Amino acid sequence: MCGIVGYIGSRPVLPVLLDGLARLEYRGYDSAGIAFILRGQIRICKKKGRLAQLEQALAAADLAGEPIRVGIGHTRWATHGAPSDENSHPHLSANGRIAVVHNGIIENYIDLKRYLCAQGCCFHSETDTEVVAHLVDLHYERDCPGDLMAAVCLTLAELEGSYALGVLCADQPDRFIAARKDSPLVIGLGEDGHFIASDIPALLGQTRRVLIMEDREVAVIERQRVQLFDALGRPVCREPLQVQWDSTAAEKGGYKHFMMKEIFEEPRAVRDTLTRHIRRGALDLPAIGWPRPVRQVCIVACGTAYHAGMVAKIVIEQLCRVPVVVDIASEFRYRDPILDDETMVIIISQSGETLDTLAAMREARSRGGHILAVVNVVGSSIAREAAAVLFTAAGPEIAVASTKAYSTQLAALYLLAFSLAQRLNRMTAAEVGEKIDALLAVPAMIDSVLASQAEIQRFAAAHFNAHSIFFMGRGLDYALAMEASLKLKEISYIHSEAYAGGELKHGTIALIEPGTLVICPLTQPALLDKMISNIREVKARGALILGILTPSCRKAADVCDAVFMLPDVPPLLAPLVAVTPTQLFAYYMSLNKGLDVDKPRNLAKSVTVE
Ligand code: AGP
Repeated sequence: MCGIVGYIGSRPVLPVLLDGLARLEYRGYDSAGIAFILRGQIRICKKKGRLAQLEQALAAADLAGEPIRVGIGHTRWATHGAPSDENSHPHLSANGRIAVVHNGIIENYIDLKRYLCAQGCCFHSETDTEVVAHLVDLHYERDCPGDLMAAVCLTLAELEGSYALGVLCADQPDRFIAARKDSPLVIGLGEDGHFIASDIPALLGQTRRVLIMEDREVAVIERQRVQLFDALGRPVCREPLQVQWDSTAAEKGGYKHFMMKEIFEEPRAVRDTLTRHIRRGALDLPAIGWPRPVRQVCIVACGTAYHAGMVAKIVIEQLCRVPVVVDIASEFRYRDPILDDETMVIIISQSGETLDTLAAMREARSRGGHILAVVNVVGSSIAREAAAVLFTAAGPEIAVASTKAYSTQLAALYLLAFSLAQRLNRMTAAEVGEKIDALLAVPAMIDSVLASQAEIQRFAAAHFNAHSIFFMGRGLDYALAMEASLKLKEISYIHSEAYAGGELKHGTIALIEPGTLVICPLTQPALLDKMISNIREVKARGALILGILTPSCRKAADVCDAVFMLPDVPPLLAPLVAVTPTQLFAYYMSLNKGLDVDKPRNLAKSVTVE
């Protein structure tokens, strides 16, 4: 998604802005730009392509030593208008007095553009954002001369959609304005100036004291002062957060890629997520707000988070005997969902900013659902709007492909399932304690899987030229297969499908031909004989089978061409451990193909558009 930075202070502005943009690169982008005030004029430098192109253009302008004290910057992930220099941000008003950077979508920009053209404005880009620059300038000129804050507020009142904005005015070199609605924006409080950024890691090179902006808030950022106002223009006082993330936590820590670092963090991340919500062997969860009765559970998420929800469905239904519906957020929003105040709605999101998921949560809330969010990023929109939050402790997940976040989502969801089962008297406290002990043994099991990564690396080396790979499983293994298939697709660009073992014969088996690789998680003894039959079916068509087995399913090794043995994890908890070899497989397949593992093509870390 787009990334925003801004700075006003006594440090050299351009290096501060470039450092922030570099720390936002992981969000995915196709162009970048910077605007700053120099001798009463706004100067802009913006380029399609990577940050390096922008840095070269700035170097060519020879600005070192110039008295630049305020600026804003942007990395763009195209939504309206193809990647190009003209469509890059910042965008200027016609007279060059106002510059704007924006993350989000102005849904009514066409009407606004029509109105502005009628006012004589000329547009230079295809973007929605450019209307903001012209509108602010129009209000600044016509309705509130000299009052930048007022001009911005008048503009915001006309916008529909989502925005995180940085606004610069050539007449006002002592401040800039920040505003947000639905798209994240944080303020950094420094010793020699103040900052804004789309997320916390972008600030870690400058400060650890941050203010999370709330929806519809506006901030006036000055060298020695930050003023925060709510939607009604009332001053807001909020204690800054002291960010604990070590800056190396957002670096690669010696691994070749963030993704590998984050896979190897899974034992710590799962352990931290569990221990955060367990005290003396018993559950210690925040107030969940379960409805009475819990007539149904509705899980809503996207992508990997949705796959975590598929695991949770099976676990909750098995332990709690409550019906669970799992929905893709972008579908949920528009299917007139059936829920009421006896429905527990579980929203799962690593970033807490996925717009489809955020909107689905609002839809569920409007229908009376009790909202619980399972989120990784503190201060994110979903975390702040949900009635209750169960935070995962994955730490910053930088690689676009989600790995440790998935594992920690599962850990949190197991605890939630135990909590509901105990609440419904489906499990005694002692039984929950036993399950907790089994969960606490999982990090060590993941460690042992990681110690065998070379087996996966060798297998990937023999298969990275495959053009299509199938994952097949039943029950929890099918839910896991869905996530394993997504991981492979999104970073290796190899076509892959995940199928329920019993379903292949209803059509897709037609795609199996000699040499087709079929990967089977085999961790569910109760379904093993059926799976062995399904494996025989595809083997009869020439498929090559990689089995990922627990010891209790060891007999399936006889029908596999290659086997990866897992530790003896209980079947109910198996996805927590079995996912790791599938993530390693995807990683090595991508690495062998020489692809950008951390920033795969077309993808963004946080999808804050519909
Ligand atoms: C995960 O590998 C993908 N990058 C993507 O599916 C992601 O899980 C999805 O966009 C949801 O993101 P969220 O968890 O931040 O809401």
